[in-house]
Amino acid sequence: MRELVVSKIKEGTVIDHINAGKALLVLKILKIQPGTDLTVSMAMNVPSSKMGKKDIVKVEGMFIRDEELNKIALISPNATINLIRDYEIERKFKVSPPEVVEGVLKCPNHACISNAEREPITPKFYIKTEEMRATARCHYCGRKIENLDNYIS
Ligand code: CTP
Repeated sequence: MRELVVSKIKEGTVIDHINAGKALLVLKILKIQPGTDLTVSMAMNVPSSKMGKKDIVKVEGMFIRDEELNKIALISPNATINLIRDYEIERKFKVSPPEVVEGVLKCPNHACISNAEREPITPKFYIKTEEMRATARCHYCGRKIENLDNYIS
């Protein structure tokens, strides 16, 4: 099938093979908000031979940081990162979800010591990656998070 594409970029980052429907979460992770000056293009729920449907985010002039890569891996373990210079792909790699994250996810259990009002401790989670998604388990209280979308800080 002929793929629907947004225009190529000159310099910056293309995040491809994002799980369908998650591009807005990727923008949130990249802290791209209303009022941004960045040139950003995005496609949601476009046909993909590998995934059926996928999202794509392209940001001119921005080179993604490791911290952001880890967060994207949590919501979309198969995303591909393409770093572009002068219209050419300089580097292409797949994100890889970390096995342990500290300070990235917030525990949904209000009684967890990582949510204590006095002297809270940094949350720590163990990540399990399945085919298309990652789940997490709290080091302190054992609470599992099946869908990480709303717990990434
Ligand atoms: N891309 C871009 N600007 C460029 C070069 C590439 O926006 N100057 C985008 C393409 O539109 C595509 C992604 O970067 O979304 C990867 O490009 P390419 O490797 O050429 O495409 P595919 O072979 O389809 O990628 P893959 O093998 O990762 O599926």
